[in-house]
Amino acid sequence: MSKQYKIAALAGDGIGPEVMREAVKVLRAVEKKHGLSLEITEAPVGWAGIDAAGKALPDATLELCRRSDAVLFGSVGLPDRDPTIPKEERPERAALLRLRKEFGLFANLRPVVLSKALAHACPLQPERQGDGIDILVVRELTGGMYFGRPKTIEDLEGGGKRAIDSMVYTTAEIERIAHVGFRAARLRRKKLTSIDKANVLENGVLWRDVVTRVGKEYPDVQLEHMFVDNGAMQLVLKPTQFDVMLCENMFGDILSDEAAALAGSLGMLPSASLGQTTGEKTFGVYEPAGGTAPDIAGKNLANPIAQIASAGLMLQYSFGETAAATAVQDAIAKTIAAGLRTGDIFSSQDAKARKVGTSEMGDAIAAAIGA
Ligand code: IPM
Ligand code: MG
Repeated sequence: MSKQYKIAALAGDGIGPEVMREAVKVLRAVEKKHGLSLEITEAPVGWAGIDAAGKALPDATLELCRRSDAVLFGSVGLPDRDPTIPKEERPERAALLRLRKEFGLFANLRPVVLSKALAHACPLQPERQGDGIDILVVRELTGGMYFGRPKTIEDLEGGGKRAIDSMVYTTAEIERIAHVGFRAARLRRKKLTSIDKANVLENGVLWRDVVTRVGKEYPDVQLEHMFVDNGAMQLVLKPTQFDVMLCENMFGDILSDEAAALAGSLGMLPSASLGQTTGEKTFGVYEPAGGTAPDIAGKNLANPIAQIASAGLMLQYSFGETAAATAVQDAIAKTIAAGLRTGDIFSSQDAKARKVGTSEMGDAIAAAIGA
């Protein structure tokens, strides 16, 4: 009997459907090759959810996620659509942030890898790229300014308004994400850079204290603290100094986009959002770190690699299918090495590069799995 896994595939908006199609293609190839049985059920989310069922996260979609072993998520949010819909009901908050909170997905892992083959796509000079960039951004995902209360815009007497977002972290929230960071560093190059703003924010002071204390349990991991502004600068000056970057929610959002640009494109950056492991199972939502890219949606231009690599992370973290997960990574690497490039990672200076569309890239990666 092959091992069975239930996957909810929520493609969402913009480029979501076309990159999801390629990820499913690759999963089907993996399924055959590695003797798995994947039950993949699609459901609407985002504006697609609003159009289908009047809600960014329709009840049936949420139910499907609850019944699934993992969620493969595309992207949601179209800034130009219907400005009359209240912000609480818009896809970013009502679908994405809601899913993160609903399933307690406090740990967001974003692996940023610039391979030699993609050196041309990196905006940094070759000498700053060293032997390649390999960073894991560990981002706290259910706390901080995204969720802290009060969160409001209020009218001021005498005109004008006041906006409030509250940055809130508890010891326990910092501890659990710190453990995720240190455990990940242990499996890598054993260095953890903790990002904060302890010189200005009380949150930074607590963050630094707690991470330092948790770090004592991991004497084999080198711990370093860095202010976020310096971290942003160091990323472009000397990205090779980083192994694991541990960040609170907002800093991780910002620095992971910056780091992704170093890896050639946001279209290369997958992510895993994980909750507490219960028994043997780790439920997770797997999604590209990039957005819906409405300007290129439906044109077969989007890079499907972030979505495909996210499916690979799902095989790894939620299903523990290491061989299958490695096969996805290898197939992506092989396809890149063969010179296939979507527009975002294409460089005319690279003699080997050949520009392809979304579906051709997916076909090639699926074929590399089967080979
Ligand atoms: C991300 C995205 C989201 C975030 C948006 C779409 C709400 O930028 O996953 O990084 O800010 O977390
Ligand atoms: Mg972001």
